[in-house]
Amino acid sequence: MRAAGRTLLAFVVAACGGPEWEIENISVDAHVRRRGVATRLMSEFLGLARQRQVEAILLEVRETNLPARQLYEKWAFAPVGRRRRYYTCPSEDAILYRFDFNGLLIKD
Ligand SMILES: CC(C)(COP(=O)(O)OP(=O)(O)OC[C@H]1O[C@@H](n2cnc3c(N)ncnc32)[C@H](O)[C@@H]1OP(=O)(O)O)[C@@H](O)C(=O)NCCC(=O)NCCS
Repeated sequence: MRAAGRTLLAFVVAACGGPEWEIENISVDAHVRRRGVATRLMSEFLGLARQRQVEAILLEVRETNLPARQLYEKWAFAPVGRRRRYYTCPSEDAILYRFDFNGLLIKD
């Protein structure tokens, strides 16, 4: 996502292949956080996945990354597992999340 001055403000990186896609990262410039930018990105990404008839979206996130975890949970991603000491510097568990398209309404 770019502003008029062509500065990159936000991005989502995902592995998009097969019935399950995986979000590798989503990031918003610190100066424009809490203004709904990630919400818009997530809406567009999930809309694209739905168009492509994807069954589920997977991701993992640091356990203490509460802004990201709250974003995912707001979008009905469910915690489905934990990878112990998955991250380094500092060492930390990863929480695995899954968004399942079956039976869910997607926010536009
Ligand atoms: C996580 C991140 C992408 C959120 O981007 P954002 O544009 O600020 O998010 P939005 O404004 O769309 O907020 C959507 C929801 O996310 C959650 N959220 C976002 N920032 C939050 C914060 N600082 N504290 C708590 N919840 C937060 C809230 O549920 C929020 O909904 P609300 O505003 O109705 O409370 C952003 O904080 C970021 O880039 N973080 C650093 C990179 C990162 O950790 N990415 C995740 C890697 S797995």
